[in-house]
Amino acid sequence: SVQGGGAAPPAAKGGFPWFGHMLSFASNPFKFVEKVARQGGEITSFKLLGQRIVLLTGDEASELFYRSSDEQLDQSAAYKLMTPIFGQGLVFDAPIARKNEQLRMLMPSLRVEAMRDHSHKIVGEVEHIIADWGDSGEIGLVAFMKQLTINTASHCLLGREFRYELSEEFASIYHDLEQGVHPLAYHFPHLPIPKFRKRDRARKRLQELVGAIVRKRANQAEKPSDMFQTLIDMRYDDGTKLDENEITGLLVGAIFAGHHTSSGTAAWVLLELLKHPHILKRTRDELDGLLGRKGEVSFHSMRDMPMLENVVKEVLRLHPPLIILMRKVAEDLRFKNYTIKAGEMVWACPPVTHRLSHLFSNPYAFDPDRFAPERREDKNLMAYQPFGGGKHKCSGNAFALFQIKAIFAVLLRRYEFELVDAPETYVDNYADMIVQPKEPCRVRYRRRDPAGIASDYGASGAPAKASGCPAPAHQPAAVQMPAITVMVDRQLCQGHAVCTGESPAHFQVGDDGILKLLKEEVSEAELEKVQLAALHCPNAALRIVRHGP
Ligand code: HEM
Repeated sequence: SVQGGGAAPPAAKGGFPWFGHMLSFASNPFKFVEKVARQGGEITSFKLLGQRIVLLTGDEASELFYRSSDEQLDQSAAYKLMTPIFGQGLVFDAPIARKNEQLRMLMPSLRVEAMRDHSHKIVGEVEHIIADWGDSGEIGLVAFMKQLTINTASHCLLGREFRYELSEEFASIYHDLEQGVHPLAYHFPHLPIPKFRKRDRARKRLQELVGAIVRKRANQAEKPSDMFQTLIDMRYDDGTKLDENEITGLLVGAIFAGHHTSSGTAAWVLLELLKHPHILKRTRDELDGLLGRKGEVSFHSMRDMPMLENVVKEVLRLHPPLIILMRKVAEDLRFKNYTIKAGEMVWACPPVTHRLSHLFSNPYAFDPDRFAPERREDKNLMAYQPFGGGKHKCSGNAFALFQIKAIFAVLLRRYEFELVDAPETYVDNYADMIVQPKEPCRVRYRRRDPAGIASDYGASGAPAKASGCPAPAHQPAAVQMPAITVMVDRQLCQGHAVCTGESPAHFQVGDDGILKLLKEEVSEAELEKVQLAALHCPNAALRIVRHGP
């Protein structure tokens, strides 16, 4: 970016003095932002309550948003209402370097590798919540998914004490913390209103409970495998441990970041499948083929489910739960001929970018095949952005995708579902800060006819493999082999460590979350493993390069 010099971004027409476009925005934030972007293009601006907002959409303007440094675009102004919940000195209330160290500490529990430990807990929670469903019934889908995903998150992240011994008290603490997330907290975080008093009491009590568990665990020989324990064992670069305030804040931060985002997405997966029966059939056929009726849903059996994965990706394209990502401009920024001034806010808007027809073909259609290997419409990382992008791309994305796949691997093999109301009445509720399907969101279920399910082990006796799986390309043997190397895009790598599982000879992720490339050369024999590493990298941060003739 270059300082100053350019024109001001074009401004949207209309709006009232000072209030700006607040009325239209508040009545439907997505509709408003989509209209402004459609009229103004990739960079355009408007005012809300005296604050100038520059809206960046499309892949090039999104790149400016995601690739600018924290010093240029400040996250903390946008998330400051969370400080009383996360705690003083935590994440957005900490200096930039400290915030980024804290965010990195969450990674070891959220990487694909950590799913080995989480997978049986997640599957167990799905089994548990449907244990008393019986043969048929009706559920409120949004409430069901919220309950299921808070159970899985508290189990995998907070650990068994909160999930089992303190589950009722935790539910009440969590409720009070959630109620404390209110726009008033942007400007008056300590207003003496009941909501905020309850929020502060809940945060204090949670920290007491966390402290008691830290002390109890210190005397335990066998340590549990959850995020809580990882944070107890974690050290800052200068060697200091996290204190109880910090452990509490980071745990709460992870739960808040992952809860409604995951529950809303899971609810939309079922709704879109029910709105598109032919896609439901293909998804279920894939699951039946891979797992059969009794096949175990595990870390390994879940790895390749291209149809279900593409359905989840398509749901996230059309219904990303975070519709507006915000930063405050700390230093003037240049985009093409425009200058965005320090003090203005910039917004990225994933659902608007996801509906641009030069980036996604027929963008309003629900079409999971757009992500198949021959189309790969998600390969432009600055266009497909349900998890954000760049340095602050969602670090829980592997956890979220694994969890949603596990939920449907259990549910779809066990039950048939149908919408209770007319399909077009199931829509997003854009009034929510984290967008979810509008309630009531009723769905009926009926136990599946066991005879209708494919046999557990296909005709060959081995678990059937789904078709459409992107098989690594085998290179034909040649006399003169060109040298092959692998490269890491450091701006994209977040240390998920998927690659270390595929090719430990090349990749290693240290406790600091930083990927070490052990060797660049890839022999012909190693190529398949490295290709799998590149294929499964959640951030597409690996590139394989062939040199020579
Ligand atoms: C950040 C989306 C699930 C933890 C983000 C961001 C997005 C996002 C868009 C970027 C925010 C920004 O740039 O301002 C989602 C979606 C999810 C999901 C759509 C589910 C479908 C999760 C889960 C966790 C999680 C399950 C953890 C358990 C985080 C964290 C960050 C983050 C820690 C901050 C990363 C950083 O700034 O370095 N998420 N998220 N998310 N998310 Fe997620």
